Amino acid sequence: MDKKKKIYLIGFMGSGKTSTGKKLSAILGWESIDLDKYVEVVAGKTIPEIFAEEGEAGFRKRESDALRALEAKNNCVISTGGGTACSNENIDYMLSTGYVVYLKLNPGQLKSRLVSGKVERPLLRGLDERQLLEFIKNKLESRESFYGKADIVVEGIIRDYRSVAMTIVNAMK
Ligand code: S3P
Repeated sequence: MDKKKKIYLIGFMGSGKTSTGKKLSAILGWESIDLDKYVEVVAGKTIPEIFAEEGEAGFRKRESDALRALEAKNNCVISTGGGTACSNENIDYMLSTGYVVYLKLNPGQLKSRLVSGKVERPLLRGLDERQLLEFIKNKLESRESFYGKADIVVEGIIRDYRSVAMTIVNAMK
């Protein structure tokens, strides 16, 4: 399998996976797939509804299934959810079927980007700013070993998604 026919964007919530995925796919002329949206369409409900009705375990099962359901697709950029890469089964699956890019931001950068996006993210609901930063630090630490297995790491994106996308294109050459 040619790893370069499929790109997976991984990283913490708020790291810009979806926006970078859109830019990158436009540059390459590839399809852009948002895994969270794909899960929602298959389930016929939103992610908060899945968490509420099936728990986090139910959601994780759905996202792992969704990842594998896209196996036959090529020439696509798949923006994953923040937790998709965080099992050995999933990160190894992605590394063997595509080119994996970790969009890396530090906890402070993630916090500023996530304060306004707490409602649609069940794991962040109800946290005040201090708790949010604490949550990000702890979760990031526990996830870093999975994210760090990526083929490439792109650090510190803030707003310029096009230059992030171009960095990825150049790294793949
Ligand atoms: C999650 C990240 C979310 C979504 C779900 C769980 C996580 O995706 O998959 O709420 O565990 O980090 P984004 O990274 O697109 O916010």
